[in-house]
Amino acid sequence: MKALVLAGGAGTRLRPITYTSAKQLVPVANKPILFYGLEQIRDAGVTDVGIIVGDTHEEIEAAVGDGSALGIRATYIKQDAPLGLAHAVLTAAEFLGDDDFVMFLGDNLIEGGITGVVEAFERDRPAAQLLLKRVPDPQRFGIAVLNEDGSISRLVEKPADPPSDLALVGVYLFTSAILDAARRIEPSWRGELEITDAIQQLIDDGASVRASEVEGWWLDTGKKDELLDANRIVLGAIKRRIDGTCDETSTVTGEVIIEAGAELHGTTVRGPVVIGAGSKLVDAYVGPFTSVGPGCLLESCEIEFSVLLAGCTVRDIGRLEGSLLGREVTLERTVRRPAVHRVMLGDHAQVEIAKG
Ligand code: G1P
Repeated sequence: MKALVLAGGAGTRLRPITYTSAKQLVPVANKPILFYGLEQIRDAGVTDVGIIVGDTHEEIEAAVGDGSALGIRATYIKQDAPLGLAHAVLTAAEFLGDDDFVMFLGDNLIEGGITGVVEAFERDRPAAQLLLKRVPDPQRFGIAVLNEDGSISRLVEKPADPPSDLALVGVYLFTSAILDAARRIEPSWRGELEITDAIQQLIDDGASVRASEVEGWWLDTGKKDELLDANRIVLGAIKRRIDGTCDETSTVTGEVIIEAGAELHGTTVRGPVVIGAGSKLVDAYVGPFTSVGPGCLLESCEIEFSVLLAGCTVRDIGRLEGSLLGREVTLERTVRRPAVHRVMLGDHAQVEIAKG
């Protein structure tokens, strides 16, 4: 059994963060989203992992390397354009050969791993095994319609008028029959070869396609609020570990990870929170569900329910909440006149300034 992990795609909904960074490498609880999937694949006993990369291939390759640090063997497969998930499968045909494989979308996070579903697939070897989850916004996903006996009657990609609320989660198990099916489909209205259509081919062929509902959470981290929510949920499971230093005027309460080299002075932290290596917090408050990346400086400020990437400086700005800061962002109060908001923001940045 092999794995095919999709780490191409433009990440348009996370701009401006994804102008300079692959969406799969945006951190949740200070770890790239992609790493959670790779670890779950390894934990299911699959180590031969093909990674589909696109324009951001250099960054993905720099982060994952040969995969040995994550306990896998990574093979990079370049997809020239993001022409769909079935196109990605065809691009990987040589890597996949005749082997069974698990396909994992690199921006998806699922609770509890994939060991159970991989074992079930290896035992019964249907042509495809899908994971489903009920969602409130089925228009955004591939949707499955089930027969009364629980088998799949049909699949439809991003329906305007959804026939069910059972979304296809971004983890699929296939035999090599999917390659032949993918060769027989046409591009969808969005110009992509949809994996949903290729699986529908298998169903039309009379092949066995199974599905099971994911019991735990499933997070598609495509947008800022989803990312903050993913961060909240993942932080909810961390265990306290203090490797950095806290002076006697600092208070650290609850499940908090403070990485080596981080320093707290006169600072209050209420978990769940993770503070990255080498960050310095002075007269600050960091509240629940916040991830502070490595090498940040927080001074005279309060931050809650937020994600800060590496190297940010936040100083004397009052309180920040529900925010996502990219790498090396500076946010500070000034005494310079005129007393105005003065900003340099990347394309598609969003700023909300409180009234009053
Ligand atoms: C893709 C699939 C869709 C699936 C979703 C899960 O959508 O096409 O069927 O439900 O991933 O994340 P996309 O990310 O291409 O919009």
